Amino acid sequence: MKKIHSNINILDSQFKASVESYTELITIFNSRMNDVIHRDEELPVIRHRSRGKMDARSRIELLIDQNTPFLELSPLAAFGQYDDQFPSAGIITGIGKIHGKICMIIANDATVKGGTYISETVKKHLRGQEIALKNHLPCIYLVDSGGIFLPEQARIFPDHDGFGRIFYNQSQMSAAGIPQISIVMGSCTAGGAYVPAMSDETIIVKNQGTIFIGGPPLVKAATGEEVTAEELGGAFVHTGISGVADHLAENEIDAIRICRNIFELIPQNESQHFENHPIEEPTYSSDELFGLAPVDLRKPVEVYEIIARIVDGSKFEEFKRDYGTTLITGYSRILGFPVGIIANNGFLTSEASLKGAHFIELCNFRKIPLLFLQNISGFIVGKKYEHEGIARNGAKLIHAVATAVVPKITVIIGGSFGAGNYAMSGRAYNPDFLFMWPNARIGVMGGQQAQQVLNSIKGNSDDQNDDLISRFEKESSAYYSSSRLWDDGIINPVDTRAIIGLAISAASNKKTTSPKNGIYRM
Ligand code: COA
Repeated sequence: MKKIHSNINILDSQFKASVESYTELITIFNSRMNDVIHRDEELPVIRHRSRGKMDARSRIELLIDQNTPFLELSPLAAFGQYDDQFPSAGIITGIGKIHGKICMIIANDATVKGGTYISETVKKHLRGQEIALKNHLPCIYLVDSGGIFLPEQARIFPDHDGFGRIFYNQSQMSAAGIPQISIVMGSCTAGGAYVPAMSDETIIVKNQGTIFIGGPPLVKAATGEEVTAEELGGAFVHTGISGVADHLAENEIDAIRICRNIFELIPQNESQHFENHPIEEPTYSSDELFGLAPVDLRKPVEVYEIIARIVDGSKFEEFKRDYGTTLITGYSRILGFPVGIIANNGFLTSEASLKGAHFIELCNFRKIPLLFLQNISGFIVGKKYEHEGIARNGAKLIHAVATAVVPKITVIIGGSFGAGNYAMSGRAYNPDFLFMWPNARIGVMGGQQAQQVLNSIKGNSDDQNDDLISRFEKESSAYYSSSRLWDDGIINPVDTRAIIGLAISAASNKKTTSPKNGIYRM
């Protein structure tokens, strides 16, 4: 494979200034991550620990194989909403290995409003299950939750993708042979009782876990019966009398041990073999991505320079180098896995769209996972382009993206605007994973453009224009997106390689299907 030769002078003062200003973005990112992850001083955390309970992330650390990574998803869910009272939306989800088997772990954080569910909590839980279903990943639920956060019930309870979908998904996955295991480490009330009840196998912690459809206050109100939580639905009740749970654990550590033991005999799913090579570090340091990330979206970015700092040995075998040059396509490897890279290098044109569609077909046949590096302001506009059928040619790319049979991983490294978002495997195109760099922006169009469009339609006042621009600015930030689960998390550019590697290994847990057609040369 050919090596990319960088033309960047890292000693250049402009490059250094870009690195410096990006470092500020990373400081903000680190501080926001720190705020949601390290909450030792907060009262609910102190109270939780004083009850002898571990926090959700420590439970996960103990559950997964020692010295193996945990790919946490959407840690900044609900960020900047609800007065920031729901760090990580009160639920930790992610992918880790147990006895070498890749699993989806979904853990309530009882230090966040009793582990109750707001809309983002449900969305995050369902997204974890969606990834598990797509990739045949066994699910482990570490349950410690008061169910629905009652003041928000109307946004959570009744709809298709509401709270009830969690249990529907459990049934569907169980029927598909995807193991569903629960460890009850605290409360499972009302609808929440169905997480352990619908699991294939359930462990409950003595003097700590409870499962009931209605808690003691509700029972008293409904029937007048007075009963303690332990008598109503504690560990002894459910392992000895009701049979709702299967294993009685002495404490949390014992419960995690039992869960790990169960995994010793759970069979490994038949995975997709992607031809793996020895890992090579990129020739150019990934730290230099700070100077290259497209922060000012008006400035062109040499995407080869970014690829060179992400892929093994900075090697990239380009496909159709001289055709449709605003879209770069080519083969490479990341952490030894093969990848077909599709990266923006300008507007999407007809030629670029045809080239992208052709390349996706090749990757489908060769079983090469696709990596989309999005930095796109949209499809090219104008009479000439409409006449040559940009909509028809763009549709071919969008169709190829939508129907690709290999894993798709999308990283939004810059802008993600308009139909460019669709053609480059945005959220609606079911990428297996979608991550954003902290500088990334997403929206139907930029604020300035929206202002011009609305001005030409209805002649906005200056004040209306300012409001619109600042609203678009706010709503297109990566944090706004991640808070609402439009992505699977914001990542530091230097971690991109490692995260793509983990994502591909998760996506290889299930065999890919074969394409239905031959290769149509575009
Ligand atoms: N809806 C809204 N808020 C809830 C809630 C719910 N279902 N369950 C707990 N909370 C809130 C509490 O009001 C408290 O808020 P605050 O921090 O603003 O004071 C916070 O979450 C922590 O609750 P607290 O009871 O102090 O914590 P705990 O660890 O002692 O107990 C529970 C946690 C979940 C066992 C307990 O709160 C409970 O039983 N909640 C009701 C559960 C229920 O009946 N759910 C039915 C809905 S499906």
